[in-house]
Amino acid sequence: MNFMRKQIATSLVIVIFLLSTVFARNILQILSENEDGICTSMVETQGYGCEEHKVTTDDGYILSLQRIPKGISGKAATNPPVLLQHGLLMDGITWLLNPTDESLAFILADNGYDVWIANTRGTKYSQGHSSLTPQDPAYWEWSWDELVNFDLPATFKYVHDQTGQKLHYVGHSLGTLIAFAAISEHKLLDMLRSAALLSPIAYLGQIKSPLAKSASQNFIAEDLYWLGIHEFDPRGEAVVKLLEKICQDPGNNCSDLMNSFTGPNCCVNSSRTDIFLEHEPQATATKNMVHIAQMTRKGTIEKFDYGNDEENNKHYGQPNPPQYIMSNIPNNIPLFLGYGGADYLSDVNDVKTLLDKLQNHNPDKLVLQYREDYAHADFVFGTNAKEIVYNPIMAFFKLN
Ligand SMILES: *[C@@H]1O[C@H](CO)[C@@H](O)[C@H](O)[C@H]1NC(C)=O
Ligand SMILES: *[C@@H]1O[C@H](CO)[C@@H](O)[C@H](O)[C@H]1NC(C)=O
Repeated sequence: MNFMRKQIATSLVIVIFLLSTVFARNILQILSENEDGICTSMVETQGYGCEEHKVTTDDGYILSLQRIPKGISGKAATNPPVLLQHGLLMDGITWLLNPTDESLAFILADNGYDVWIANTRGTKYSQGHSSLTPQDPAYWEWSWDELVNFDLPATFKYVHDQTGQKLHYVGHSLGTLIAFAAISEHKLLDMLRSAALLSPIAYLGQIKSPLAKSASQNFIAEDLYWLGIHEFDPRGEAVVKLLEKICQDPGNNCSDLMNSFTGPNCCVNSSRTDIFLEHEPQATATKNMVHIAQMTRKGTIEKFDYGNDEENNKHYGQPNPPQYIMSNIPNNIPLFLGYGGADYLSDVNDVKTLLDKLQNHNPDKLVLQYREDYAHADFVFGTNAKEIVYNPIMAFFKLN
């Protein structure tokens, strides 16, 4: 009897022990998930409050969003929400990498804006999906058309629902392309207050980056796609090998990859490269890279080209991909375009092509800001970007 009781007691202890380890593991998992988030690693460390949010797109991608609802003073935001959308091969950390008095997200929060930071599907903190994992090739079966159709509308609607207010938008690079495409199709308009678009990209026909040009002319992304490499991971073996090949071409100087791709950035603090490389670059879909390569070869802004009449017919009901028509952007939407003379990706001549399409835009609703010495990365990482770009953006927001 005594022996049995002892056994039961022992079993109970074991069960409780097992339960508690499972429980503890769950708690640890929750803690580490939070610890792993952008709020914990990049925002709270600077003394700012931060909220992690999740939004699921209509095609099942689960995206993380960070909200900085107050400035460093702790005073609640009095200005409208601002959504920050990063560019290609980057994530939301783009807006948080510099010291707080140089990074747009913190500057906006300190100026009373309710700041929301988007993270595109496939980046480190937006790898969830309702039925797929990043190991499934189907997970990477998208290009920026899907960001226009799914990521951007879901993110806008989420922030709009949470705040009950229309949004200001700030996009960089690919974050401008998807906004141009969306508003040219009259999406988002009922939720959008104004858009500030830095290193604007609608046309890529004049791109100066020797590396990007060489990659697109040699159909590098297409090769990867047909090899079955659907995730374009800039740190992965396949992409690194290709880069090495491109860099052996005597016309390409790869001694400074960032500048070879983005242009001679005047004002990025090179002693912060290590911090940058800790967080970036991020993966994207190879199909997305193919779509961008198509743009540089054709000089058009249109949907993904499946490469033959039959496939295009299947997707679009016409033999050629439909164009995004920039002149369909409503003339009274407040737009701020910041572009730089040294930008290898958002080339001045391509920006001129875009401005030509916007020639009927209400002149009171179109602010152009040109900076001769700025290249692509200066707009987000420039040590002087606050004076040159962010203060003018906040002045523009005040008017709209
Ligand atoms: C490559 O660029 C670096 C600086 O960015 C320069 O010092 C070097 O001389 C260049 N090499 C060639 C072969 O042009
Ligand atoms: C560049 O970054 C380093 C290290 O973070 C810092 O000590 C230095 O003051 C920065 N320089 C400028 C001009 O911001």
